[in-house]
Amino acid sequence: MRAGTFALFVAACVKLAHANVYYQSIDGIPDRTYDFIVVGGGTAGSVIASRLTEDPRISVLVVEAGPDNEGVLDLQIPGYYFQIPATYNWNYETEPGANIHNRVLKFDRGHVLGGSSCINGMVYTRGASDDYDAWAKITGDPGWSWNALFPLYKIHEKWLPPLGGRNITGQYDPRVHGYNGKTQVSLIQKSPDEFDLRALNTSTQYLCKDFPFNLDPNSGTPLGLTWTQSTIGDGVRSSASAAYLDTPVRARPNLDIVVNAYATRLLSSGTEKKKQLDIRTIELAPRSGGTTRKTLTAEKELILSAGAINSPQILLNSGIGDSADLTSMGIQTILNLPNVGKDMSDQPVTVALWNTTSGVPFPLLDPAAALEQWKSNHTGPLSAFATRQTIWSRIPSNSTIFKRFGPDPASGEGAPHIELSLYDDGAVAGTSIILLTPKSRGTVKLRSNNPFDPPRIDLGYFNNPFDLEALREGARLAKQFFSAPSWSDYLAAPITADPDAADPAPFEDNTRDFVLTTLHPVGTAAMSARGSKAGVLDPDLRVKGVTGLRVADASSIPLIPTGHPQAAVYALAERAAVLIKSAWY
Ligand SMILES: Cc1cc2nc3c(=O)[nH]c(=O)nc-3n(C[C@H](O)[C@H](O)[C@H](O)COP(=O)(O)OP(=O)(O)OC[C@H]3O[C@@H](n4cnc5c(N)ncnc54)[C@H](O)[C@@H]3O)c2cc1C
Ligand SMILES: *[C@@H]1O[C@H](CO)[C@@H](O)[C@H](O)[C@H]1NC(C)=O
Ligand SMILES: *[C@@H]1O[C@H](CO)[C@@H](O)[C@H](O)[C@H]1NC(C)=O
Ligand SMILES: *[C@@H]1O[C@H](CO)[C@@H](O)[C@H](O)[C@H]1NC(C)=O
Ligand SMILES: *[C@@H]1O[C@H](CO)[C@@H](O)[C@H](O)[C@H]1NC(C)=O
Ligand SMILES: *[C@@H]1O[C@H](CO)[C@@H](O)[C@H](O)[C@H]1NC(C)=O
Repeated sequence: MRAGTFALFVAACVKLAHANVYYQSIDGIPDRTYDFIVVGGGTAGSVIASRLTEDPRISVLVVEAGPDNEGVLDLQIPGYYFQIPATYNWNYETEPGANIHNRVLKFDRGHVLGGSSCINGMVYTRGASDDYDAWAKITGDPGWSWNALFPLYKIHEKWLPPLGGRNITGQYDPRVHGYNGKTQVSLIQKSPDEFDLRALNTSTQYLCKDFPFNLDPNSGTPLGLTWTQSTIGDGVRSSASAAYLDTPVRARPNLDIVVNAYATRLLSSGTEKKKQLDIRTIELAPRSGGTTRKTLTAEKELILSAGAINSPQILLNSGIGDSADLTSMGIQTILNLPNVGKDMSDQPVTVALWNTTSGVPFPLLDPAAALEQWKSNHTGPLSAFATRQTIWSRIPSNSTIFKRFGPDPASGEGAPHIELSLYDDGAVAGTSIILLTPKSRGTVKLRSNNPFDPPRIDLGYFNNPFDLEALREGARLAKQFFSAPSWSDYLAAPITADPDAADPAPFEDNTRDFVLTTLHPVGTAAMSARGSKAGVLDPDLRVKGVTGLRVADASSIPLIPTGHPQAAVYALAERAAVLIKSAWY
């Protein structure tokens, strides 16, 4: 089928499938009531809406600011990561970073049904079991422990072998995966190449103690060199909306979805009992702006799932937050909850790169041929995006960093501090260096009392000097790995600054100049123990001091997992649905 015909065909199918359940603007929302309104149809929101409406007694409305994902090729082809149109992105920029030479970083967030899972790098990592056991400890709820969440990981996941016959025996652990769930997960289709084999050699022959081969990064014990897993199934991105809001789910009579609908505020529903604030009303506006407003009240609960940037923004716009900050914006406080938008953790990333001995880059992809191949059978270079191998490492326990900059932030001995995602383009090879356990915290604040104004995102990078030094330790780990004999005839001179240079300043300067964000913000409306003054949510995701309102998305995470966060968001959302169902039914 030709591209044009194909697009028309897809458009026709979309129309047929959703004629009655699906609304393009707030004007289309029918005059009826819903048990639950999910605000933000992103990664977590898609899961929650899908799971709740499995029960035909439960009615749900999903409110999404962005457009629909369905039929959009750019959101299906994994290799199109770098060319996803701006329409599907909130296109935020951070505040200038005081410790990164005042650089402003581009800060992507998904603006589409399916949220950031539609535009992310698809790397699928759960982190360490110690991370979740720390969640359980922080919240006082054993339901957040690794062992308690593990069955939810299995029901969320649908592991698939890669198309094309790559032999994946010995490259993953079948025992830790789910096979009947929603989100499709796989290893990439391409069989290991010479670079991959050198890396494997480094782990199995030379540096086995420091960089052991680890069969599976998603077993709860990720340390070592692992084959990278992605949220891709049969060569297609498996976003939250594709996986959880597929055509049969959208056809449920108890599920309505409205897109292009912007939640401006949450309002008290005016039915307070015993002075307890009850918030079940949402104020909506067209995504395009203007003064039109529409309010809707959920019969049972509002579930805020607008993500780590927009959930706190909506709470603040509603007068729920630090009353001093709200007053300075001219917003009346309805609930003084000082930690809304505070305590944001994000993982900074740098690189360590070498010239190769050949210096010859791999041939450029023929984009038309690659697209043709992908369309014909979902194989080829566009069927994948991420790097093929990832190393999860700890900073050596005798490092001076712990004496100089305070205690180890990792949740336990099984949690890595540093992730190295291996990279090779023929002319240049090496790795990215991600700090998984940052000590610095950032903030999300309002810019004004105009709900359409983008929030102020301050990543707070290197507010805590531990993080800068930890990236140096990461560069040392990279240097150690690539010093193995497996690389001697492949790598030439290093391109990036030497972490061990006698003068530490150039390395630091370089890091401040080039550090980027992994786009992994969490914790801006975090859970804490019941009765704790810290945090924003109780362990059941309810906003402290309020009935009728939960926050369930990356904001709710009390400690950043030592990996990329989408897997944790999926598990959290699966449990949110369980908690909500068990509270009402
Ligand atoms: C470019 C990019 C690459 C990434 N790469 C990876 C990766 O490789 N692996 C990984 O694990 N993680 C990755 N992440 C992070 C991961 O995708 C997120 O942590 C996760 O998807 C967050 O889920 P969420 O439900 O909290 O928020 P989101 O999925 O962002 O959902 C929030 C939803 O709410 C909607 N919304 C916001 N405000 C409003 C409003 N006012 N009214 C109505 N709707 C609203 C948004 O449009 C969005 O659909 C990446 C993120 C990005 C942006
Ligand atoms: C997919 O199609 C390409 C040609 O476009 C072909 O070379 C390849 O063998 C096919 N792969 C599979 C798994 O069918
Ligand atoms: C696949 O790989 C495993 C482990 O290396 C090997 O034992 C097995 O024979 C291979 N299977 C096939 C069909 O090649
Ligand atoms: C891996 O190591 C083995 C044994 O030392 C060696 O024979 C092989 O050539 C190495 N492969 C690569 C790709 O370095
Ligand atoms: C830490 O221990 C290793 C191995 O025992 C040693 O090579 C290294 O020099 C030590 N580092 C420091 C900072 O003491
Ligand atoms: C790396 O290779 C490039 C291109 O050949 C060259 O310009 C550069 O000087 C090399 N860098 C080092 C550190 O050798």
